[in-house]
Amino acid sequence: MKEMILSHLSQDHLWQERIHYYNVIDSTNTQAKRMAAAGAPALTVLIADSQTGGRGRLGRSFLSPAGSGIYMSMILRPGVPPAELMHLTCAAAVAACDAVEQTLGFRPGIKWINDLVVDGKKLAGILTELSIDPKTSLVDWAIVGIGLNCNERQFPPELADIACSAAMVTGQSIDRSELSAALIDALSKMDLLHPQETMAIYRHDCVTLGREVTVIRGEQQRNGQAVEIRQDGALRVQYPDGETENINSGEVSVRGLFGYT
Ligand code: BTN
Repeated sequence: MKEMILSHLSQDHLWQERIHYYNVIDSTNTQAKRMAAAGAPALTVLIADSQTGGRGRLGRSFLSPAGSGIYMSMILRPGVPPAELMHLTCAAAVAACDAVEQTLGFRPGIKWINDLVVDGKKLAGILTELSIDPKTSLVDWAIVGIGLNCNERQFPPELADIACSAAMVTGQSIDRSELSAALIDALSKMDLLHPQETMAIYRHDCVTLGREVTVIRGEQQRNGQAVEIRQDGALRVQYPDGETENINSGEVSVRGLFGYT
């Protein structure tokens, strides 16, 4: 698999050394954290055929069976203050949309903040994590993890209404190595220091913007309208009483009023 991925990537780069492939791993994000802490260089990529402990946002699990999806993490070392990386998840989502469009010929939408969706169903999820160097207060490492459903033809009953795969969308079986290479290429080219253009594309792709949404904080739920996406990726929601709130991705889940998106 690694050789197949390499065959789609520029030979000028050190991808041969940077890409690590696993048949099974607990979580590519967890492994990336271990490797980043041990000094792995920027653009180290971890790809697994399956994960036993795939993780999503808000402590959720991410189903990662063998032979069907792409489970990938990339280590970045941008060396900037964390405040300058607030849009990282948005930038990764745009990069992932670019890779899907380029390889598969359709462009997914983005459900704020980190899901790629097609026709209201989740195609992919993104989990970004970072560590700050206490001495410099700069980001020591950031990890972008992507799980993308590729060749699943059906999902377990609890996911059937909310998940889709690239094969279901295109009606064709998906070359995971080609798509993995496109993801690696797009993620490695993210321009994190100039978020203007990226955020403009994000707003265009985002299916949440302008919608009626439910903001879920633990047991509390509140309905409102998603009125703006700010430069740092925060979602501005306006409630019926006129009050507005900027929601950062942290603890909050945002859903459409009538379903998953
Ligand atoms: C989400 O749906 O909230 C995000 C899902 C992110 C899943 C990917 S799969 C590769 C990487 N390793 C993980 O454990 N999680 C991410």
